[in-house]
Amino acid sequence: MRIPLIAGNWKMYKTVGEATALVRDLLAGLGSLSDREAIVCPPFTALAAVAPLLSDSPLGLGAQNLYPEAQGAFTGEVSPPMLVDVGCRYVIVGHSERRQYFGESDAFVNRKIRAALAHGLRPIVCVGESKPQRDAGQAEPIVTAQVRAALLDITSDQMTDVVIAYEPIWAIGTGDTATPADAQAMHAAIRATLAELYGADVAAAVRIQYGGSVKPDNIDELMAQPDIDGALVGGASLQAASFLRIIHYQ
Ligand code: PGA
Repeated sequence: MRIPLIAGNWKMYKTVGEATALVRDLLAGLGSLSDREAIVCPPFTALAAVAPLLSDSPLGLGAQNLYPEAQGAFTGEVSPPMLVDVGCRYVIVGHSERRQYFGESDAFVNRKIRAALAHGLRPIVCVGESKPQRDAGQAEPIVTAQVRAALLDITSDQMTDVVIAYEPIWAIGTGDTATPADAQAMHAAIRATLAELYGADVAAAVRIQYGGSVKPDNIDELMAQPDIDGALVGGASLQAASFLRIIHYQ
């Protein structure tokens, strides 16, 4: 019922030439995808170059961020219609690096989600706890509170276009993954929160990705968990061989 989504978050890596080369390598090894969806999220500067290579391919396109206004005097920012125009279907919102380095609050993340949905983009909404929060036994209340704040005023109908990504901050880029059992427990808690907010049917339909040091050697057991519906992959999405192995999880 939920089609798993594997997304590559390239972060601030890849020039235009490197991005198109990676996409060509990915397409060469991808094959057809029947029971799963896969997308890449290159930096803004590479979106327009990558988009034509992906049209008529099973690989989709997403952006890593957006500004929550359609246009205006917001120097350096990129709007939802600009992302749609260049061929994006998805956009990552509220990544922990944006929350940490750029001061994005839950309220700002919520504005971005509403702006994405208003323009037909599917937001991948990132939530996750820090190491001290986990050690203090606060992971679940912190993460479910982030989910509630992010989804303020988002309707049930809109939730069919929302993807949640659970990314424990201590697992991002560290090689330190949550155990499949710990990830599953958090995914179940997130789904229970969605059920409280939107009812069981909507909660059962929303995809919840895991992110944080997803690699070829841990993807299979993560994807075997009942509430893990895909992965948001950073470092391992930067080389074709490793990202293809993750897309082709068993
Ligand atoms: P990582 O990053 O796979 O390199 O840990 C994941 C992410 O930040 O989305």
